[in-house]
Amino acid sequence: MSSFQCFTTITTTTKTLSTSNRRSKTCPKQTQRFKISCNVAPDDNEKLLIVPETPKLILPKTSLDTVNVDRRNLLLGLGGLYSTVNLTSLPAAFAEPITAPDISTCVDSNNGFEAENAVRTNACCPPALSKSVKPFVFPNDRAIRIRPAAHRATPEYIAKYKTAIQKMRDLPDDDPHSFIQQAKIHCAYCNGGYSQIASGFPEKELQIHNSWLFFPFHRWYLYFYERILGKLIDDPTFALPYWNWDNPSGMNIPAFFEDDGKKNPAFDACRNVNHLAPAIVDINYGGEDTGTPCIQQIGSNLSLMYKQMVCNAGDPLSFFGGTYKAGDDAKANNDSSVGSVEAGCHTAVHRWVGDPRAPNSEDMGNFYSAGYDPVFYVHHANVDRMWKVWKDLGIRGHTEPKDPDWLNASYVFYDENQELVRVYNKDCVRLDKLKYDYQFAPLPWLQSRAVPRFRKSKIAARSIGKVKLVQETKFPLKLDKIAKVLAKRPAVNRSKEDKEKANELLLIKGIRFSSQKFVKFDVFVNDQDDVSASSPEESEFAGSFSQLPHNHGDDMLMTSAERFGLTELLEDVDAEDDESILVTLVPKIGCEDLTIGEIKVELVPIE
Ligand code: C2O
Repeated sequence: MSSFQCFTTITTTTKTLSTSNRRSKTCPKQTQRFKISCNVAPDDNEKLLIVPETPKLILPKTSLDTVNVDRRNLLLGLGGLYSTVNLTSLPAAFAEPITAPDISTCVDSNNGFEAENAVRTNACCPPALSKSVKPFVFPNDRAIRIRPAAHRATPEYIAKYKTAIQKMRDLPDDDPHSFIQQAKIHCAYCNGGYSQIASGFPEKELQIHNSWLFFPFHRWYLYFYERILGKLIDDPTFALPYWNWDNPSGMNIPAFFEDDGKKNPAFDACRNVNHLAPAIVDINYGGEDTGTPCIQQIGSNLSLMYKQMVCNAGDPLSFFGGTYKAGDDAKANNDSSVGSVEAGCHTAVHRWVGDPRAPNSEDMGNFYSAGYDPVFYVHHANVDRMWKVWKDLGIRGHTEPKDPDWLNASYVFYDENQELVRVYNKDCVRLDKLKYDYQFAPLPWLQSRAVPRFRKSKIAARSIGKVKLVQETKFPLKLDKIAKVLAKRPAVNRSKEDKEKANELLLIKGIRFSSQKFVKFDVFVNDQDDVSASSPEESEFAGSFSQLPHNHGDDMLMTSAERFGLTELLEDVDAEDDESILVTLVPKIGCEDLTIGEIKVELVPIE
């Protein structure tokens, strides 16, 4: 580890620096005055989620705590051990869910960061207390823990929160509940600590980002973290705060996470000093401060939230991320795509908080270290809240994946009693059973549907001859400069019924990039401008692909994909009867060696 100390030792200097910086880029009063008219009614009545019973695979017990079968052996008939399995009872598309192994298989790894100068350790494995893994049992708490919006938290709550974090910091480092061990959970699950050995693929890494595991894994992570904190202060109603960055009044780092000169346990020195409150978070952050005036930044954030929660999130895989099953390669999973929120506001906020001067943008700017900043957990509480909000919007298609390989994917955590428990995705979809919920906050971004820069049909038709069709384009397409293609739509002039049956999506697949870099490119549809001047508040801006640096050992290339909704966009820009769309990809950062494997428009049925 390096001697890099973030800014603990030079707090005074950085404080002065940040204070002078603040003056030019902030407008605290304006945020207060910024009024949102929002007619969304509080929706405190949790809609009950109906989860279909999962078809169960009955397989022979193995030495691991889990049902463990190598499906290749099974299919090839090589697995004598499994010869009693009745193949006719297996689901048609036979696959296995990702199953996290017992923690004893954890290895320390350097995947995802430059270890030599790293601020934090790469020894991320949890302490082995020689416990066997037990099944998870739902809590029988009487009270529901209500997670408050951090910017509205009362002084009493803040004091309680700080006491809990301090107690966690005071535990010995090898206690599974200690602050450091909690931080390491993220590193172990994201930086190569575990393999897929429990599902028969010991050579494959287990990774909980960039796929449909993203939301459920982090839900469970926070669930236990919250209960551990509650236990430390002996308060069974204790709930984590959430950083309400989707709301104008919550768009700065919540005040009680700042250095107060009194050894605040919620403070972390490894943060970007230019982004302390009252700087407004940039949900489109591409690694550089744009100097966007405050009011415009708020507008841009709200528009992006609408895009990420509505336009680009019309079906389970667009929102949660693509499939990731046992045997899939974490870095080159061809089916995988990253969900709209994960790739969007989630990654942007990580990067925006992390310290750009630290070797790996510690803490928030890299997965291996993110858990060391208490802000990580309040950020993820809001990410988790987005799942609830998305579902409560009640839009058709806003339902969890029904695939058994999603429902039965599982992870292992130390619970609040230091027992090792195995938890499944299917058990985290109901907040009422997990006994927590979120304090209501308005959703001003629901009124922030983008407006078109131009309303003009036949943009793509007019570009024929100047811009190549997808089928004439050579793939992989390099994105070292702006790229444009014309993509054909499977159907034109879709009726209201057609739109209710299927979402029209732009798929950008086979995105290959250096996983060591922070990567971001923007995607525009029917943008006529050569410099792609459309802002996030305009319809032509479809969204972005972005990725935190995350190198994987020797092979530094990673593959991913993303899906962008076209239905509302094409309505907005008056291009519903156009046969093709003009797609513009604009590299923003880290794209020098990035290539695109495929671009197409598809209709995805809404179930
Ligand atoms: Cu596991 Cu925000 O990352």
